[in-house]
Order: sequence, then C-alpha cells, then structure tokens
Amino acid sequence: MTLNLATTGAILKTIQSESIAQTFALAKELVDAHLKPGDLVLISGEMGAGKTTFVQGMALAMKINQTINSPTFTKLHIYNGDWTLNHLDLYNISDLKALESFGIYDYIEPDTGVSVVEWWQKFPMIFENLPHWHVTISGKNKQRTIKVEARETVCLKKSQS
Ligand SMILES: Nc1ncnc2c1ncn2[C@@H]1O[C@H](COP(=O)(O)OP(=O)(O)O)[C@@H](O)[C@H]1O
Ligand SMILES: [Mg+2]
Repeated sequence: MTLNLATTGAILKTIQSESIAQTFALAKELVDAHLKPGDLVLISGEMGAGKTTFVQGMALAMKINQTINSPTFTKLHIYNGDWTLNHLDLYNISDLKALESFGIYDYIEPDTGVSVVEWWQKFPMIFENLPHWHVTISGKNKQRTIKVEARETVCLKKSQS
C-alpha cells in the first residue's frame, strides 16, 4: 500500500446529504478509502446536525454490529469491529481539568483503534494541532452539507498500488 501526505486543509469531499443513507455512504467512503488504525476524526456541527449519525455510518463500515448511541452522558463508548472505535462526546465536560482527569490523552492518539470526537471544539488547544480528519456538518433536515478534510498532514491511504 502506498501512503502519501495530505496537504493540510485538503478537502477530500463535500456533499449535500438529504438522507441518513447518504451520510452513511460518505462515512463509509472515509473509512474504506482513507482511515487507518491510529487515526483521529473530529466532527463539528451543532446539536442535531447529524454527528452521531455519521459515526453510526463509520461503525457500519468497520463491521461493528452494536447499536451506536450518543455518548453525551457517558462521554465515551468503545466498540469492537474490524478496528476498535472510541466514540467520544465532550459536550458535558466542563473544563480542561475535567477533560484531563477523564483520560483524554489515552484516546486522542490511539495506538490501534480509531477515535472520533463530537464537541471537540470546546477544547481547541488540545485538538487543533493534532493530525486528524475533520468532518463538518452544517444545515438541517434535507439541507445538510457535510465536508471531509484532512488536517495537519494525516497520511492519505491510496488505493492498492
Ligand atoms: N442526513 C440525514 N438525513 C436525515 N436525518 C438525519 C440525517 N443526519 C441525522 N439525521 C437525524 O437527525 C437527528 C439528529 O442526529 P444526530 O446524529 O443525533 O445529531 P448530533 O449528534 O449532531 O446531535 C437524528 O434523529 C438523526 O436520525
Ligand atoms: Mg451526537
């Protein structure tokens, strides 16, 4: 497999999603074409934008057979499929001290699995400069725009060559 470095801020794809199926298809494309164990995915978007839905699509693509629920209250769910998926939601973490005592550093640079974080933007100082895939979801109902970008030189996985 050939690896090359993605240009910081490179936009991989932007779609208009009118259905959960379209969101799932984009999540699958990210998993199948680009993600690899050790990667971090940060998802931005307001409440109800469809962040957890995108994670459900990622989980399906990783052949995780469990139901993916929002970890808003529990803060972290860990699933096992082709890879381990750490699903974090920082909405209810009040400050940096609480984030650190929660053990955030164990998840943001995972050795084997993939970590995906909702509400990461509450703590830009922790996440902003880490290599990551960035998913931005804006709009609601049938007008959702979803953008996937490579940030801070994550390795892009090219198709078999
Ligand atoms: N692309 C989509 N098309 C239609 N409904 C969607 C889509 N994405 C999300 N939804 C619905 O919107 C609601 C909120 O989605 P959710 O993923 O929980 O948002 P968030 O995690 O950003 O708060 C859910 O009922 C979900 O089924
Ligand atoms: Mg959510």
